[in-house]
Amino acid sequence: MVCLGNICRSPLAEGILQSKLDPEKYEVDSAGTGAYHVGNPPDPRSIAIANQFDIDIRSQRARQFHVLDFEKFDYIYAMDLQNYRNIVALAPDTESKNKVQLILEAALGQQSTSVPDPYYGGDDGFLQVYTLLDKACTAIAKKLV
Ligand code: 4NP
Repeated sequence: MVCLGNICRSPLAEGILQSKLDPEKYEVDSAGTGAYHVGNPPDPRSIAIANQFDIDIRSQRARQFHVLDFEKFDYIYAMDLQNYRNIVALAPDTESKNKVQLILEAALGQQSTSVPDPYYGGDDGFLQVYTLLDKACTAIAKKLV
């Protein structure tokens, strides 16, 4: 799960998808294309909205997406088009590039649709992001299992 800062959207996506999969069988992780928040916990607003739905993301720490992630992971979900493009630009080969998908496009068939960046908005933006990601992760978990 990849967004820009790895403190708002992708930590939620990681926590939500993890909650829908068997941890013995699937590894879910998140990262940011930017390095501004590396080492930081998720935004308190993401922690709060996850907590409302009984998902605990407090122990996550932001990290930057790395080219080795193409080897380590089978699926790479970008939260928006900008991040999609930035990840694809790092792909060393076609196989790696083909692992990258826009999350709402891959999960819900919503072409070119992005998970909106809630960082500069109010709390309702985080609920909207949570709701979108919950729908998307339900669809992804179904496809994987
Ligand atoms: P995220 O949100 O990409 O969903 O983690 C953002 C977090 C921080 C910034 C932008 C987006 N920022 O500009 O610091």
